[in-house]
Amino acid sequence: MRAIEPIPQSMQAAVLHAYDGKPESLRVEARPVPRPARGQVLVKMTAAPINPSDLMFLKGLYGILKPLPVVPGWEGAGRVVATGDDWLSRMLLGKRVACAAPNQRDGTWAEYMLTAATRCVPLSDSVSDEQGAMLIVNPLTAWALMDITRQGGHSAFVQTAAASALGRMLLRLSQHFGIEGIHLVRREEQAQLLRSMGARFVLNSEAPDFDAQLHAVCHQLNATIAFEAVSGMTALRVLQAMPEGSRLVLYGALSESPLMADPRDLIFQRKRIEGFWLADWLVGRSVWQQLRLGRQVQRALGDLLRSEVAARYPLSAVHCALTDYQASMTAGKRLLVMGS
Ligand SMILES: NC(=O)c1ccc[n+]([C@@H]2O[C@H](COP(=O)([O-])OP(=O)(O)OC[C@H]3O[C@@H](n4cnc5c(N)ncnc54)[C@H](OP(=O)(O)O)[C@@H]3O)[C@@H](O)[C@H]2O)c1
Repeated sequence: MRAIEPIPQSMQAAVLHAYDGKPESLRVEARPVPRPARGQVLVKMTAAPINPSDLMFLKGLYGILKPLPVVPGWEGAGRVVATGDDWLSRMLLGKRVACAAPNQRDGTWAEYMLTAATRCVPLSDSVSDEQGAMLIVNPLTAWALMDITRQGGHSAFVQTAAASALGRMLLRLSQHFGIEGIHLVRREEQAQLLRSMGARFVLNSEAPDFDAQLHAVCHQLNATIAFEAVSGMTALRVLQAMPEGSRLVLYGALSESPLMADPRDLIFQRKRIEGFWLADWLVGRSVWQQLRLGRQVQRALGDLLRSEVAARYPLSAVHCALTDYQASMTAGKRLLVMGS
């Protein structure tokens, strides 16, 4: 192991003891600081957001279950303070990085996290730790969804939960690339927010004529791809409204419900449903391609891919942060700030 400073034996971490979503199952407690082996880095965390994937993970609804007890948190930022003895890890020693948690071990809601060197993106000086902490999950996904739209030759798309941090990134990207979007929200304040950003087609799913309006505008713009983050009845309503042969890409399940679909859409209208997971999209890209992507995304973090921060909490107040976030997700991200 190589280190740039003394590594303590123990740290504070939020530790999950059961996948039941109960507040008492998540406790801030002492945990040993792990030591990096070959290919691994130890990141001294500075900030980590709460994302919908974290909420699902706490309830055992995410696609990955880690052995318990475990530290939650899928992404964050910090400084690499120790590494294994291999060239890739050593290149990161002392660097500020955005980092993703390993799939089977402790995550980012802690003072230190051990992860693979390949799951880190070195941060440029222009990117703050806060924006860096939110660099991987949403900006890369928004970038990927826009890439899918452009590669597929779609001139317009539909997106649900459009007032989310990711939805707003997709809106800005679509404006940048000149692709029309139909943005679906569930509250009038969210519609106003998106209109104030220049969105032309915003529909509220609570409006009485929503389905008819969605059908009309999907056909008017020939919107043949939908990015769906809600699941349940929303997927059914969106797919029904789209032209024959359209694709629905499910990338979230904010309603926590199984996806519904009308068999007639799939059988007679040749509409298709597929899933998207960022981890899969990144597979097949080399370390160098991922580094280039990391740099492209960092350049856009100040405007097209920025996330709003609604509040910051110390790790010890993780429950307040979770309650606050779930009360109004549209308001912006809640960041856990380590060492505060
Ligand atoms: N598949 C992947 O690889 C991948 C990667 C990144 C993100 N995602 C997904 O992308 C989605 C957006 O993430 P984010 O971090 O941008 O979210 P966010 O900023 O926390 O915002 C969530 C938004 O969804 C709305 N919402 C919550 N529950 C809803 C429901 N049942 N029906 C309709 N709207 C609902 C919220 O509105 P209120 O304010 O009214 O609650 C809010 O506007 C999530 O589903 C996340 O899991 C997937």
